[in-house]
Amino acid sequence: MQKTWLITGVSSGFGYEMTKLLLERGDTVVGTVRNTAKAEELVKNYPDTFDCEILDVTDVPAVHKTVDDAFARHGKIDVVVSNAGYGLFGAAEELSDEEIDRIIATDLTGSI
Ligand SMILES: NC(=O)c1ccc[n+]([C@@H]2O[C@H](COP(=O)([O-])OP(=O)(O)OC[C@H]3O[C@@H](n4cnc5c(N)ncnc54)[C@H](OP(=O)(O)O)[C@@H]3O)[C@@H](O)[C@H]2O)c1
Repeated sequence: MQKTWLITGVSSGFGYEMTKLLLERGDTVVGTVRNTAKAEELVKNYPDTFDCEILDVTDVPAVHKTVDDAFARHGKIDVVVSNAGYGLFGAAEELSDEEIDRIIATDLTGSI
């Protein structure tokens, strides 16, 4: 049974590898990137089943719009993979307030 996936952060790493495998097996993927140049190969190889959307997950209204648009275009989303994110390493006193705010907005609020 073919499924429709929504996966954030498909430009590299786990998101990219997962998207490639799913497209190879015939599923549809709505994949988000911040820079479309990084998804050119997927767009070229899977024009009918790879739906590339620009999204920064810290932009919460844009997250809602991306999800609403995906439902409107595909009728359903079977699986959401909230993959976009990054790691932040350092002792608490070494990190700036901006760095802490940004990672919470990305890995926590944006993902939820
Ligand atoms: N690798 C590990 O050992 C490990 C361990 C624990 C958790 N994780 C988590 O697993 C996920 C995937 O890891 P990975 O190793 O595959 O990382 P990765 O190769 O760095 O990929 C992260 C993806 O998230 C995207 N991203 C980052 N910030 C974003 C934002 N604000 N809005 C939208 N997209 C954003 C990146 O897009 P850009 O190309 O635009 O930067 C990229 O597509 C991440 O959430 C990471 O924190 C990884």
